[in-house]
Amino acid sequence: MITPAHQSVLGSVLSPARRRAFIDWACTGSGLLIEDDYDGEFRYGRQPVGALQAMAPENVAYLGSVSKTLGPALRLGWMVLPRRLVEPVSEAKYYADVQTEVIGQLVLAELIRTHAYDRHVRARRLRYRSRRDELLRRLACEAPEVRARGAAAGLHITLELPPGGAPAGELRAIAAAHGLALLDLGRSWHVADPARPVSVMVGYATPADHAYSAALDALCATLRAAVSGGKAS
Ligand SMILES: Cc1ncc(COP(=O)(O)O)c(C=O)c1O
Repeated sequence: MITPAHQSVLGSVLSPARRRAFIDWACTGSGLLIEDDYDGEFRYGRQPVGALQAMAPENVAYLGSVSKTLGPALRLGWMVLPRRLVEPVSEAKYYADVQTEVIGQLVLAELIRTHAYDRHVRARRLRYRSRRDELLRRLACEAPEVRARGAAAGLHITLELPPGGAPAGELRAIAAAHGLALLDLGRSWHVADPARPVSVMVGYATPADHAYSAALDALCATLRAAVSGGKAS
């Protein structure tokens, strides 16, 4: 299972050589790649990369959803499957939930038909892009030691703290004291390595417009305190 367009959680884009290697692996061993294109609609600095699915349609199952464009609570998504899997997956889905909610699908179809979905995504792209830019500007001024990782894409950014700062547990406590819930990447690594810098994932889509600046204040204050080992605020 891979997230080639925007790796979850570090945010890198799979290189052409690695894309090719995955496709070769899938095609030579009749393997199946599951391509999770979870936020492909939001690319800011570059052209979107094409789906791997197009390179080997019989060996890649492509998954997408409206979770990032409209909201995860809708539970609306889609799969583009190799032909051999369409029937078994449909059957498995039937036994998993018997019925799919229909009204949401009809509404989505209407949004697509009238281009309202497209307009919405384009407007959100501009908004998230400017939020990301503002976040980076604030970090450059107020916490320049913190490194932002990943491509300009999606709804989150991963920040790496310099060595010598507060450990992850303390960082979470500092964030909580500033009214923030920060997710550090400790449990996301395949192999734990205490020498690795503390990193956090920051989502910038959720705060309301009027609350965004205050959220950045809290984030920058948290990071400044964490960088100085939990001593400043
Ligand atoms: C890697 C990844 N895939 C998929 C999703 C979306 O999941 P769903 O469509 O089930 O809401 C997310 C949401 O954060 C995600 O991080």
